[in-house]
Amino acid sequence: MRIRKAIIPAAGLGTRVLPASKALPKEMLPIVDKPAIQYIVEEAVRAGITDILIITNRGKGVIEDHFDHSIELENMLEKRGNTEVLNTLKETANLANIYYIRQKETKGLGDAVLRAKEFVGDEPFAVLYGDDVIVGETPAIKQLCDVYENYGKCVVGIKPVSDELIVKYSSLKIQNITDKIFKVTDMIEKPKLEEKFSNYSVLGRCVLTSDIFEILEHTPLGAGNELQLTDAMKTMAKCGNMMGIDFDGKRYDMGNKLGILKANVEVALNHKEIGSEFKEYLKELVEKL
Ligand code: UTP
Repeated sequence: MRIRKAIIPAAGLGTRVLPASKALPKEMLPIVDKPAIQYIVEEAVRAGITDILIITNRGKGVIEDHFDHSIELENMLEKRGNTEVLNTLKETANLANIYYIRQKETKGLGDAVLRAKEFVGDEPFAVLYGDDVIVGETPAIKQLCDVYENYGKCVVGIKPVSDELIVKYSSLKIQNITDKIFKVTDMIEKPKLEEKFSNYSVLGRCVLTSDIFEILEHTPLGAGNELQLTDAMKTMAKCGNMMGIDFDGKRYDMGNKLGILKANVEVALNHKEIGSEFKEYLKELVEKL
């Protein structure tokens, strides 16, 4: 079955990027000239996804405004004949059918995903974490959808990470199927170093089947006293229903300060309008370091 629906959990508190994320959701922090969440929505659209549910919470109304028409702005740009910017704004408002639901309490990623139960129905669906931007030629989520279509099982996007990071992320027990595709047999959220299965971790993308909702409803609170998506996916993995793909693409963690800077520098270097000027500036700067 083709994946048509995606959810983007964006209801986290963003405590690692305070005070920037106090009044502005971290998902709206810019990478050069677009907010992070727009890169994520565009990735889903490029993968053929037509319906997107963004999980928000109080104070995240600007996300809705961003994907809506701004009639005054559009009229003004039209009057001034600024068609290029006008078209960009119109495209942003027409990217996909975007829906919103609030997670009323920040009770974890698993709880955020559970809010999507009605929207998803009984179809397989994609999850794109709202603070993980992945840049690459083939959309990362498309690579996961292809694995789902071939194997008919849930799929997580995975990459090896350092010991320093594995204790903050999840760790996976895996068996190679090909050099990029794996069977995932177990997983643990925020392991102690001695508990890790491997240095492979889930990085921001999954394709899940709708039975995840019933599993989530019966999963006890886990790390940080939150409902962890990893704990529910572990149940799937233990039933032999979980694959992983080491996807092609560069992932930026917009939930931490260094990730935001790296994303901006690397996207700016490839930017049509400012790329070459920025490169010159960086070269001059590097010489002085
Ligand atoms: P994070 O753990 O990175 O989000 O969750 P956070 O809580 O904002 O981070 P810090 O530690 O306070 O800085 C990964 C993704 O899941 C969403 C976040 O918005 C992020 O996109 N999330 C997390 C929710 O939607 N709801 C939650 O209850 C928790």
